[in-house]
Amino acid sequence: MKYSIDSILQVLKKVEDPETGKDLISLNAISSLESEDSKISFSLVLAPKNPFVKSLEKACVNILKAEFGNTTEIIVKSTPKIEALKISIGRKDDFQVLPGVKNILAIASGKGGVGKSTVAANLAVALAQTGAKVGLLDADIFGPSQPKMFGVEGIQPQTTKIDGKIFILPIEKYGVKLLSIGFFVKPEDALIWRGAMATSAIKQLINETLWGELDYFLIDLPPGTSDIHLTMVQTVPVTAAVIISTPQDVAVADAIKGLSMFKADKIEVPVIGLIENMAWFTPAELPENKYFIFGKDGLKKLATRMQIPLLGQIPLVQSICEDGDNGKPSVLDILSPQGKAFAELAVNVAAGIEERNKTLSPTQKVEINPDASCHS
Ligand SMILES: Nc1ncnc2c1ncn2[C@@H]1O[C@H](COP(=O)(O)OP(=O)(O)O)[C@@H](O)[C@H]1O
Ligand SMILES: [Mg+2]
Repeated sequence: MKYSIDSILQVLKKVEDPETGKDLISLNAISSLESEDSKISFSLVLAPKNPFVKSLEKACVNILKAEFGNTTEIIVKSTPKIEALKISIGRKDDFQVLPGVKNILAIASGKGGVGKSTVAANLAVALAQTGAKVGLLDADIFGPSQPKMFGVEGIQPQTTKIDGKIFILPIEKYGVKLLSIGFFVKPEDALIWRGAMATSAIKQLINETLWGELDYFLIDLPPGTSDIHLTMVQTVPVTAAVIISTPQDVAVADAIKGLSMFKADKIEVPVIGLIENMAWFTPAELPENKYFIFGKDGLKKLATRMQIPLLGQIPLVQSICEDGDNGKPSVLDILSPQGKAFAELAVNVAAGIEERNKTLSPTQKVEINPDASCHS
């Protein structure tokens, strides 16, 4: 049977958030409420750092089961309330650069192949599922992979003319506005696209694209430190960066180099946290088992040592790889363990950005200096 939305809301009104002392309906905390057959699903939208999220989820499930019967399937997904601040642009001549974008998040890694693009795709989709406006720019000139991960390979983005000027229109998929350098460069040409051409292409994908209003603009960077990194920090004020690594020693060593680049004098982009990918291997048939094939907690230990938050640990599971190849980011299946891991990661990233915006002043664009280099 199907329960009426009203009757469900009546029941949920009895649940009180200890953090604010208000009930969930007064807090406007219930969204995407749906009821079908004997299934009820909704999102619980609370401040990212609300310590009672888990107990509130449980309270919702319990009270709904008590009311509608134990066989009712209840799906509650917690999503962070977006309260990100608009980043004021530092320099006068930047007025035209991404005026509608609130937060720019650089997604970086020391090494290639550690899952940067996989994490970027899932973060983008997870944030979009919270109702946030999300853009994703795949700036990895050496190996653009977002077209494949979003299942939009071979698509040609459209352009439009405004006041005589041509603008690129991002592609939209899973609620994310997406552009990739891969839409414009053939893989076999990537090598000759290094240097000046790559730099101007990235600038164009940022400045001459109709990104519109975005709560989060994610940039999937090439691995390591490159001209693209330098171009990015010179083109836009980057709100924050996250660094992805596997727990393996060599990957962690390279992650430290990535960290130093963002922290470098004159660049000064706050790194809000580290993300450990392939933290352990879990076979599909033994979901409780963890095998630490790349070492245990390598990045967690670095996070503790450097006093940087560890935003999440994502397991190595076959379906994450398959989902990437099939153009369906794993977080679309929110009930799977990997979907949950990415959704939780997104909550922590949103909270990290919010915290950063509360405690630090806006990042300034890096002044152009022809001698500057971020090669390590
Ligand atoms: N947690 C994971 N579990 C399984 N496969 C993964 C995981 N993370 C990434 N992969 C796979 O590993 C490969 C490299 O990941 P990718 O995101 O492209 O890395 P990067 O962008 O850092 O080069 C891809 O085939 C991807 O599907
Ligand atoms: Mg990649």
